[in-house]
Amino acid sequence: MNAVHPEAPRTSGTVAQMPVLGGAERFFGHNRVVASDRRGFLERIVREAPAGSPGCLRFVASGPDVVIINDPHLLQEVLIDKAKSFDKSLILKYALEPLGGEGLFTSDGELWRRQRKWMAPLFHPRRLESYGDAMVAVTKRAILDWKDGETRLIHHDTTRIAMSIAGKTLFDADTFGEADEIGHALTDALDWTSANSPSVLALLQIIGGRRLQRFGEARPGPLGERLSKAGLAVQKPRFFPGKQGKKLVAAIELLDARVQRMIDERRAAATRGTPPNDLLSQLLTAHDEGEGRMSDRQVRDEILTLFVAGHETTASGLAWTLALLGRNPDILRAVIAEVDALPGDPTVADLPRLGLTLRVFKEALRLYPPVFLFGRAANEALTLGSWSLKQDTAVILSPWTIHRRADLWPDPERFDPDRFLPEHEAARPKTAYLPFGAGPRVCIGNHFAMMEAQLVLAMLLRRFHFALPSPEQSPPLAFGATLRPADELPLQVRRR
Ligand code: HEM
Repeated sequence: MNAVHPEAPRTSGTVAQMPVLGGAERFFGHNRVVASDRRGFLERIVREAPAGSPGCLRFVASGPDVVIINDPHLLQEVLIDKAKSFDKSLILKYALEPLGGEGLFTSDGELWRRQRKWMAPLFHPRRLESYGDAMVAVTKRAILDWKDGETRLIHHDTTRIAMSIAGKTLFDADTFGEADEIGHALTDALDWTSANSPSVLALLQIIGGRRLQRFGEARPGPLGERLSKAGLAVQKPRFFPGKQGKKLVAAIELLDARVQRMIDERRAAATRGTPPNDLLSQLLTAHDEGEGRMSDRQVRDEILTLFVAGHETTASGLAWTLALLGRNPDILRAVIAEVDALPGDPTVADLPRLGLTLRVFKEALRLYPPVFLFGRAANEALTLGSWSLKQDTAVILSPWTIHRRADLWPDPERFDPDRFLPEHEAARPKTAYLPFGAGPRVCIGNHFAMMEAQLVLAMLLRRFHFALPSPEQSPPLAFGATLRPADELPLQVRRR
């Protein structure tokens, strides 16, 4: 019989028996580390959960067990095979509550199932084709005042473009002029989200609320029901103290007003018999006429969810793509050759001819996944691989870390769009690449984002060359609610 090395990590057992991620502090566990140095935290996971390791690590925190997973097979279990045993992360729900409420991103159970089933057809690739022209028109308008040779803050520009596209295609709203105002409100709201996702106060509130909810659920009858409802309410943020809290309240007021205006405009257009064919109009039709009507609040939550999820992430992906092209002149030349071969400005009919452009975008999302961390909470006890997890165990998943496993992505820091040639894609496990998540909760807007990226990139690259001021340096990263360029990515643009 082979002798077992005394220090070989366990590969089965309870969460308490899992190898612990290094860097835990005495009283705070990993909580402070994840809040103060997210990049260091992620790099530690990459180092400590490589190929051949048990694939999961224990995260030390007070309250329920927390597990970090960085193995494609375990990810497959959490996101796909056993997806029903998991709800969205409680911390994420808390942090996104002011913006997204109970929208598709944060809801669970019956509410999520109903909304997803109903909204999925609207995001089918065929249905999205009618948005192509608007995506190109918005981009054309955005670059009108770009001057040859100037240095532009490209992330600011891609945010304006992506926000205007979201406004136009989802709600037929012209947000171009308002983009800065709305952009600031969203930034303030997302700053609060980022600061409060791992805050100790938020954790205490969530843990206390969850315990009350479970206590109520264990008691039959109306008292149990009331306690469980109260527990659920405690898990939502109610008070917004401090300067950041004030900014959040002002931001939500502004965004609510804008959403209400959009709703009012749609309703007025519907009474005139000219409702625009946009997503908001379809949401409102279901709201005003449908069975199982959505409440006003639900419409608002879905709209803000789509608006936030629909532009913030794509904007970062586009900015990173341009920066990576700026650092890789050979690949830039090849993409330019591809977009120059189109007969004119890009259209949806050209998408099949923009294969390299798509691969470049996919590779940018691998290196810089805008949603770099997300999570789940087990809604029942279960086994994951050979590990047993109790109900309420939190699971942390990171596209950033799985995208850097050298067994799945050789030489992981190298920018190489060929990784996404069909034969290479087919050879990898599905859960090796997670910029959009996977399984039933996969991003509903993934086709929307890819199509937008192909069209916007083709449009920009047909007109301009992009160069980094100092190509030898990697742009600084900001790991907030999403992964963004810390300095808005200054790039020099040269007219072609
Ligand atoms: C590059 C762009 C994008 C990235 C990287 C991205 C990333 C993600 C990820 C990782 C998830 C899953 C989170 C989880 O499983 O917990 C998700 C869900 C979601 N995304 Fe995206 N997204 C992008 C674009 C979009 C767009 C364009 C829209 C809408 C127009 C959108 C709307 C949503 C919604 C509503 C969900 C929740 C789906 C559900 O739970 O049923 N996203 N996104």
